[in-house]
Amino acid sequence: MPDKKPLEISFVSSDTFREIFQTSAEGIIMVDSTGKILLANPVSEKMFGYSKDTLVGHKLEDLLPERLRGMHLGFRKQFNEQPSPRRMGIGRDLQARRLDGSEFPVEISLSYTRMNDQLLSMAFITNISQRKVAEVALRKSEEQLIEYAGELEKKVQSRTEALNLLVNKLEQANTDLQHEIMVRQQAEEGMRMALEKERELNELKSKFVSIASHEFRTPLSAILSSTSLIKQYRDRTEFEKIDKHIDRIKFSVQHLTAILNDFLSLGKLEEGRIEIVKESMTFVSFFNEIQEEVKPILKEDQHLVIDIHEPNDTFFTDAKVLRSILFNLISNASKYSERGNNITLDIQKVDEKIIIQVKDEGIGIPQADVKHIFDRFFRASNSSTIQGTGLGLNIVKRYVDLLEGTITFTSDEGRGSTFIITLPI
Ligand SMILES: Nc1ncnc2c1ncn2[C@@H]1O[C@H](COP(=O)(O)OP(=O)(O)OP(=O)(O)O)[C@@H](O)[C@H]1O
Ligand SMILES: [Mg+2]
Repeated sequence: MPDKKPLEISFVSSDTFREIFQTSAEGIIMVDSTGKILLANPVSEKMFGYSKDTLVGHKLEDLLPERLRGMHLGFRKQFNEQPSPRRMGIGRDLQARRLDGSEFPVEISLSYTRMNDQLLSMAFITNISQRKVAEVALRKSEEQLIEYAGELEKKVQSRTEALNLLVNKLEQANTDLQHEIMVRQQAEEGMRMALEKERELNELKSKFVSIASHEFRTPLSAILSSTSLIKQYRDRTEFEKIDKHIDRIKFSVQHLTAILNDFLSLGKLEEGRIEIVKESMTFVSFFNEIQEEVKPILKEDQHLVIDIHEPNDTFFTDAKVLRSILFNLISNASKYSERGNNITLDIQKVDEKIIIQVKDEGIGIPQADVKHIFDRFFRASNSSTIQGTGLGLNIVKRYVDLLEGTITFTSDEGRGSTFIITLPI
């Protein structure tokens, strides 16, 4: 503030000023324009290591480290030309020098006054050593803090990594465990199923034994009586009657064989031992053979009438399995019909499927029994006087499943039944 009103010397020498000057916590030094010290308060003397009243008369440069003195001359010149109150050394550290040559950091505010045309400058000096120490300490602790934070971060990171590793291991262990549990469950399930199968098979066997012992009795006693009768007829040379009994024996043996075959088939099906082997054949050749083969099982005056829509068409399936299916159905059709009632086999190819219908004009199936007809050992209520084990249709159903086909039937009690098989070709 160049237009600031200069202090009066009378004020400088006033008690008030002296009081402030003497007791100020800051060092106060007044210099003339050449830098000669005119006034120095006790704090400044003490600060710079001078004894009482010995600082006046020294040059201000004496209070600076030697390396800074040259620079300071330039600074004073500039201040003298354009004096203004200001703080020195903003943004950099100011160093002062004690009498003993030691240095210390300071903060300086400058002011000025004019007296008798003379520019007098005043410096208010604060020793900031302690603050610097504190600052350094603070910076150091800041640095330490940063370092510590860094270390902490590293530690956290490494702990996190270790934890992640542990979590991964745990997850893996969990997956392994789940897998093991699954394997065990599967093994248990397999064992349970095997046991169940064995139980079913045992049940089947014991049921078969009881059925077979009952079913075997009739053909066996027929065989026995026929053989003794043959002996009698032979003595009497009644050959016609002998032939009749030979046929009866044949029929009984066929019946026994059929029962045994059913049981063997069921055993194989249960154990999953039936392998499907498909081959290509024409309708006419396959069904003509069937017609020949079933002749012995038909009743007197019964005929198998075959109606093939396209006789020379070919189809592709497991001939052995299809033969067993048809044998079973034709033997039922014959068994549950009267003598002289024909059986019809209707064969057609529709949409890459073969549809085979086995029709009879027999006793039919009562409505109440329809839903059980494919159950193992099931026999309809109207067939108790006719021999049978109740295995045939169950085997048929399972064979059809193996060929990936379907089986259905329609029946009118007392009028006849039609079994319909659809197979992919
Ligand atoms: N074509 C049919 N007409 C009338 N009833 C039938 C016919 N086919 C099957 N059934 C009835 O269904 C039952 C089951 O037939 P399935 O062929 O399984 O056994 P089964 O003929 O009694 O004995 P198996 O064939 O084992 O010697 C038979 O007992 C019979 O009551
Ligand atoms: Mg049958």
